[in-house]
Order: sequence, then C-alpha cells, then structure tokens
Amino acid sequence: MSANIITRTVSGLQDWFNQRAPAFLPFYRKHMTEYYAPKNFNIWYIFGVLSIVVLVNQILTGIFLTMHYKPSAAEAFASVEYIMRDVDWGWLIRYMHSTGASAFFIVVYIHMFRGLMYGSYQKPREMVWILGMLIYLVLMAEAFMGYVLPWGQMSFWGAKVIINLFGAIPVIGQGLTEWIMGDYLPSDATLNRFFALHVIALPLALLLLVVLHIGALHEVGSNNPDGVEIKKGPKGNRWSDKAPADGIPFHPYYTVKDFFYVCCFLVVAAFIIFFAPGFGGLFLEHDNFTEANRLVTPAHIKPVWYYTPFYAMLRVVPDKLGGVLVMFGAIAALFFLPWLDRGKVKSIRYRGLWFKVALALFAFCFVWLGKIGSGPGTDIHETYLGRVLTVLYFGYFIFLWVYTRFGFEKTKPVPERVTTHD
Ligand code: HEM
Repeated sequence: MSANIITRTVSGLQDWFNQRAPAFLPFYRKHMTEYYAPKNFNIWYIFGVLSIVVLVNQILTGIFLTMHYKPSAAEAFASVEYIMRDVDWGWLIRYMHSTGASAFFIVVYIHMFRGLMYGSYQKPREMVWILGMLIYLVLMAEAFMGYVLPWGQMSFWGAKVIINLFGAIPVIGQGLTEWIMGDYLPSDATLNRFFALHVIALPLALLLLVVLHIGALHEVGSNNPDGVEIKKGPKGNRWSDKAPADGIPFHPYYTVKDFFYVCCFLVVAAFIIFFAPGFGGLFLEHDNFTEANRLVTPAHIKPVWYYTPFYAMLRVVPDKLGGVLVMFGAIAALFFLPWLDRGKVKSIRYRGLWFKVALALFAFCFVWLGKIGSGPGTDIHETYLGRVLTVLYFGYFIFLWVYTRFGFEKTKPVPERVTTHD
C-alpha cells in the first residue's frame, strides 16, 4: 500500500516536472541514455570525464578560496597564509585547488595525446578538436592568472617575464604590456584585473567551451581505439533499431565504468593532496612561499611544469621576437592538425610504422623540452639540445603532412567493425 503511494507520488512529480520543462527529458535521452558510444572504449577514454571532474573541483574550491582571499598587492600573500593557517579546512581547500591545477593539465595532456593516437581530430571531428584547442588556450591563461594571485615571488616575477613577452611585438609591444599590467610592473592594478579574469571571465569561457566541445562531439559521435566510424556501420541492437550496432548507451554503461575510474583517480589525487601537495616544488614552487618583492629577483625564474616545454622553446631561440613566434607557433601548429594529417586511417593500431615512430618522438621531445624549460637555462649544451628538440617538434607536423599527402604511409587493413578484446 505504502509502496503504491510512493510510486504514484514519484510519477506525479515526474509528470509535473515534464509538463513544465518538456525539453529536459529529450535532452537527457540524447546525451545520456540514447547517446550510443562505441563499445570498445579503453582506459584512454576516461580522461575527458576526468577533465570534467577536475573542472568542477576547481570551480567549487575556487568559490571557497574567494571567500577569504584579498585581491590586493598589500594583502594577497597574507590572505593566502590566513587561509592556510586560520580558516577551518582552508589548507585542504587551497591544496585541492593548487594540486587540481596540475591535475587538470595532466588529464588534459593525456586526453590530447589520446586524440593524436587515435586520429580523433580527423574528419568529422575537426570542430571537437578546435574547441578542445580553444579550451587548452583558455586553460593556460586561467592557470597563469591563478598563479599570480598568491602574490609570491614567482607570481610576481613569472608575471613580469610572461607579460613582457608581448613587448617583443614591434611598434605596439611596449604599449601593450603596460595596457595588460595597468602599470610599468605587475602591481595592484594587475592583480585586480587578473583576479576578475581568473574567477569569473575565464571560468565562464571554459564552461561554455566545454559544453560546445561535448555538444560538437555528440553531433558526430565518438571515435574509438579502432578509428572505425560506428555510425556508418550496421544498425540495430537490443536498445534500438536505429542505433549503431556497435554502440552502447552512454548511461548506464559508461557512467558506471567512468564512476569506477573517477574513484581511482580521486584516491590518487587525495594521496598527493595529503602527502605531497607541492610535489617537490613541481606543483607549488618553493619561491612562491616568499612574498613578492620587486627589488629581489629569484635565482631561477621558471613557470610551472605544464608551460615548460613552450618556455624552453622561447629560451633556446636567441632572438626575443623569434622565440615568442616559435613558442606561439608550437601551440598554433596543433590547431592545424586536422588539415595536416591526410591519412586515410585514423587509429595508431592500423597506421604505418613511421607514424608510430614520429608520434613517440614527438611526445619524447615535448617531455624533454619540459625538462629543459624547468632548468636554469645556463647550460649551453642543453640550449643546443633544446634547439634540436624544437626542430623535431615542428618536424612532426611537416612529416605528418608529407607522409600522408604524398602516399608514403603503408597502413594495415582496417576492420569493418570495431574489435573488442574480451
Ligand atoms: C576542460 C577540458 C576538457 C574537457 C572537460 C573535455 C571533455 C571531453 C569529454 C567528456 C569527451 C568525451 C569523452 C572522451 O572521449 O574522453 C571529450 C572528447 C574529446 N576531446 Fe575533450 N575535453 C577537454 C579538453 C580537450 C582538449 C584540450 C582537446 C584537444 C585539443 C580535446 C579534444 C577532444 C577530442 C578530439 C575528443 C573526441 C575523442 C574521441 O572521440 O576519440 N579535449 N572531451
């Protein structure tokens, strides 16, 4: 009897809701229960969801940090110390946010690398890739401005070095740097505007881009480790006659799988947050525990690890404007990947040997450049090596175009339908 009342009440509430928000149920079905994802996703496919988890963590912890943080050059550093020492659980919220920033780049870099391996940027997913690259750019700006906020030594000097890069632009450069800083040096005005951009403008842009990114993906459907388009294959499975035969509903199948991996990720993240939040100076640099002082320059000014591959490229080029162009060019090249890669086969599983070698070399160059960029930059041999690695980095894009455009690639036969390894 009582179960009957509960069922009637729940279905009554559902009717009430659906009559007033008729668009909700079709939307939910399109993106969850009737979004048919390829049945052969592997572990590389969890990093998109992990990026969402980290994004949510950054927004939630950021809200609580903002409640106690003071965006002024006179008070910022002390307010962060206050959060760490006096605010209840403030240390945890701050470490979740600062470690979260590095976690964000770890999951996003793996997510992007998956795209390179499985050709997820190729037709028809160019828009998904471009939106992803825009997310990456906004994320870099967001993390940079966040790093300035604690107003430590590296916040100040890092901001000075990076903003001064714009000074290399002919004619307008000097005016532009002053316009960005609102002063001749990073100062109170800079901190205020960076705060506004970091807590509201850029997170809004990120959220919007993520919605568009997933929306664009759901229009064309997901790629998979075989790089075979399931939408083009046979239709009909136990859920629907029209669905791709090799697709399974995102919910509940992938939500359950993702939930498991999200829990694993949270365990690892908690371990780092509790036992090594600064990660030996990699996630939180030692110099940033000293308040900003415009009269004392730190021995080595270097950005956080996730920028260091690009920073290395900037430093190994002898000319300032040249270095800036190479650095931005390295990011810009990624935007053009969908048009540079003319290969007929998407997945690394069936691509030619030279593609595999080139991709491995590309990843290796990126990591090693990151190592060079985080060093003091005083070793001339390292500078030469950095130049070679930079050339190889760009070489990947040129190689990919030549290799696929002129038919040099010898691919393996691609299966008609996706494969599973049960
Ligand atoms: C806040 C950052 C990001 C979030 C929250 C996010 C979220 C997602 C999600 C949930 C998926 C579907 C699940 C998956 O395939 O893993 C996805 C797919 C994809 N993302 Fe992202 N993404 C982000 C950044 C990026 C970036 C920086 C790129 C590359 C430039 C990128 C490129 C792609 C591509 C190509 C796919 C389709 C993959 C496929 O179907 O094989 N994403 N993203």
